[in-house]
Formats: sequence, C-alpha cells, structure tokens
Amino acid sequence: MNFEKIVILDFGGQYTQLIARRVREAKVYSEIYPWDAPLATWMSGNVKGIILTGGPHTVTDEQARQCDRSIWSTHVPILGICYGAHLMAHVLGGKVRTADSGEYGEAAASLDVSHPLFEGRSPQSRVWMSHHDEIEGIPEGFKIVASTSNCPAAAIANDESQWYGLQFHPEVGHTEGGFEILQNFIYNICNIIADWDMASLAELSIESMREKLEGKKVISALSGGVDSTVSSVLVQKAIGSQLTCLFVDHGLLRKNEAEEVLSVYRGEMGLKVILVDARRRFLDALEDVTDPEEKRKIVGNLFIRIFEEEAAKLGGIDFLVQGTIYPDVVESGSGQAQVIKSHHNVGGLPDDVQFEGILEPLRLLFKDEVRELGRELGIPAEMIERQPFPGPGLSIRIMGEVTEARLRIVRESDAILREEIAKAGLARDIWQYFTVFLPVKTVGVKGDERTYANTIAIRAVSSADAMTAEASEIPYAVLRAISGRIINEIDRVNRVVYDVTSKPPGTIEWE
Ligand code: XMP
Repeated sequence: MNFEKIVILDFGGQYTQLIARRVREAKVYSEIYPWDAPLATWMSGNVKGIILTGGPHTVTDEQARQCDRSIWSTHVPILGICYGAHLMAHVLGGKVRTADSGEYGEAAASLDVSHPLFEGRSPQSRVWMSHHDEIEGIPEGFKIVASTSNCPAAAIANDESQWYGLQFHPEVGHTEGGFEILQNFIYNICNIIADWDMASLAELSIESMREKLEGKKVISALSGGVDSTVSSVLVQKAIGSQLTCLFVDHGLLRKNEAEEVLSVYRGEMGLKVILVDARRRFLDALEDVTDPEEKRKIVGNLFIRIFEEEAAKLGGIDFLVQGTIYPDVVESGSGQAQVIKSHHNVGGLPDDVQFEGILEPLRLLFKDEVRELGRELGIPAEMIERQPFPGPGLSIRIMGEVTEARLRIVRESDAILREEIAKAGLARDIWQYFTVFLPVKTVGVKGDERTYANTIAIRAVSSADAMTAEASEIPYAVLRAISGRIINEIDRVNRVVYDVTSKPPGTIEWE
C-alpha cells in the first residue's frame, strides 16, 4: 500500500501499541517492527519518520538492545522516546547514567516552545515520566529543548539531522499536549501527508482484492463478532457471490444470538451464509469435560474440523478469509508472554488449513479502526458495537461440565442481565457484562420452602482494551433488580453474587 508511514521500532516498552495508535489517530499510517529488525526489512521510500520506543533495559549494559546502526544514515527524522532517547544519546556519543532514584509519574517541564517539536505548547507543561536512567551528557550537535527539575535533558534535539529524544512519554494521556507533540513531529518535522483513513483504505483494499481474486472461490467463517463480520463484508464488496460464508452454530451462543446475527447477515448485509447446526456435536464433545483449557481446545479443534468438512463439501475453494487484526500480528511476532488462556477466535483458523491462500484484510488495523471501517462499509451499528464474546462461548462461562440444562441457565440469566443493563441505560458504559454459572449449591428459602440450588455470578467490567479491567460500579438498585429477576425466573438458581475482581489479578472471563 502506498500510504506514507512512520515506522516504530519496539524496544519492549509497555506503550508501543499506544504510540502506533496515536500516530494513526493523526491520520498517518504506522507500523511496528521488533527493535532488531534489519533496516532492509522495513525501509522504503514511504517511510517518512522513525520512532524508537521505550523499553525496560539500560542502554549502557553490554546486552542492551541496539537497532540496526544504519538508521542513523537514512536521512529520515528519528524520534526516540525514553529508552529510544537514551539509545540515541548513547550511540551518537553522549552519556547516559543510571540515576540514584527513578522518576515515575507526573513532572513539571519547561519546554522551548520556539522549537517546532513544541509549537503551540504551553512553556510550562505537565509530562509523564517513567524511567530510571537519564541523559547526562548530550551528543555533539544536539541541544536541550525541555527540562524538569529532576531531569535537565528532558528533551534533546539535533535539528540538522532531524534527531529528537524525549525522556517523557508524549503518547500517554497524562502528558499535557502529548498528542500535539507527536503531531508536531509527524507534521512539522516528518512533513508527512495525513491520508490514512478508513475510506481510502477500504477503497484500496477492495480494489486490490478484486484483481487478486478474479475467478476465485473464497470462504469465510462468521462468528457474529466484529472482526469476522468486517473482513467478510470487505471481501464481499470486492467479489460478491464468489464469497461463501459459514456460520457454525456450536450451541454455545447467547440467547437468540444465532437467529439474530444470521438474519442481519442474510438480510441487511446480503451475505451468502451457510448455517451449520453443530449444537449436538459440540455438546457431545464436551461431555464430562471440566478443565478450562481442555474445553477451549475441544471447541477450537471441533470448529476447525467442521469448517474443513463444509469447505470440502463446497469444493474448489481457493482462499480463506481470516479476521486477524494488527495486535494479533504484533503479539505473535514477539511471543514473549506466558500463555494464560489458549485463545480461540471462531473467526480465525490456523494456517495449516489447505487453501491456495489466506486473506487477512484487517491485518493492519487496530480494533477501533476495524469498527470505523465497519461503519464506513455501512455495516449496521448493532453488529459493530457488540461486546466482545469469546470463541469458546458459553462453555467457559459454565464452571465444571457443560450440559444442556446449565447452558439454558446461563443463557437465561445472561438475557436478564442484558435486559436490565439496557433498561438502566448502562449498556454503552460497560465494556463487557455476562453471567457465570457456578455448580455450587447453597440453601435458600422461596416462599415458605427450603431451596437448595445453584449460584449465578455477575461479571461486568470497564476496560479500554481488555488487557486490564476494573469491576464496573453498577448501581445497587440495578444489581438488586437483576438478582431478583434471575432468582424468580430461573428455577434452579437461588443465589446471585457480584464479582468485584479487577484484571489483573483476575481475568475477565472466569475460565
Ligand atoms: P480474559 O478472560 O483473558 O479475556 O481477561 C480478555 C478478553 O478476551 C475475550 N476472550 C476471548 N476472545 N477468543 C476470543 O476471541 C477466546 O478464546 C477468548 N477468551 C477470552 C474475553 O471475553 C475478553 O474480552
């Protein structure tokens, strides 16, 4: 694609994806590469700026992460943030030292507002610091353009070479005017054309797929989720009826969900969808299984098997559509994190499925961009604003064995929760909310009768990206109404509890 772009070299900082998103919010395309990616693998005429991110290391250590040294002779503007700034200073002949005590949190900075990087900023600005090391001696050709009382070289600049280093983090919301500082780098210094938007992306991507897929048969798996929906619609716009979608009903969906999404897919969206009713097969496969990871694997594998069977029935399929999005691409590239849960995305299948090729039309996009693209493509809001739903569905919201009776309980209680949240006008404020079935029986009293029945837990969280989350503070009256209805309307439940755990240490789903 021909968009001008900013390349971000990731040194392992916690804000790397945030930097990439901020650049895109400035309507400029950005790509993330690992810190040690050779220049030849990412450099091209379209690269108009380079950002070196923060990272947990000390630049003076022998093992310190160093990027390809030839970046210093590319004549492309470079912005180093935190570790990136240390690296810049260190490699170019300055001095970096480990301070006696680190600096974490807000600091008052004096900015040289006559410098293009700080144009339009206030001379005294609040900035966000998170570092232990600092630049002690600046390299030749550089000057100091911002300082704080603890950190004399809070920003350094070499205007001739267009190299800039910031000790603070402009990408986080706590830095006053931080986004504007990034924009100054992008617009004033990199001189880049701000042309990244979802309308042009859609146009380009549809055009290129139309060429590539001439006369080809394509298949995609719809899950009801945003990613599989948007990717399928994009492909449909390119090749129309050459695309066939499969919707596998594994029986682990919420109440009425299969009917509802199918009618939108086939109706307003005009997709050609084959419904595969596999409810019995999934239930049989899950019989007697209680281990969360085993459940996840069974659902994931059976889904793939069914998909392959259906594709074989159709015959002659050339391409498979996958709803992979950019965070999946970046995260699978680093692969450092421990597996907490083996994620299964019903819209996504492993690469070893036998097709001529895989189409991943969303692989460059962040989630909020996928939603924007969906809106651009005219997909109904109800499909785009759906809350996240795990691939293994309700199987991981039933603790212990999955049975038809338990599925009914979790489905009914979830429907009540959704109705009450909607009635209270809270649906948009809460990231995700659902009920969990606990196979724990407790004693209660209904009328004059003793009961001995199961427990339902309510999980509702606020979050920006599902990486961290806080339990939502649902008004007590709403909780009481939900609890009352669940106990009155569902036979085998006599107790409702509210989960107040944040993530970490909890996770959003219980399994
Ligand atoms: P956890 O439970 O790990 O979940 O805090 C984070 C987010 O991911 C969703 N989730 C999944 N999504 N396939 C998916 O596509 C999965 O296997 C899966 N498991 C969890 C979860 O609902 C939350 O939004």
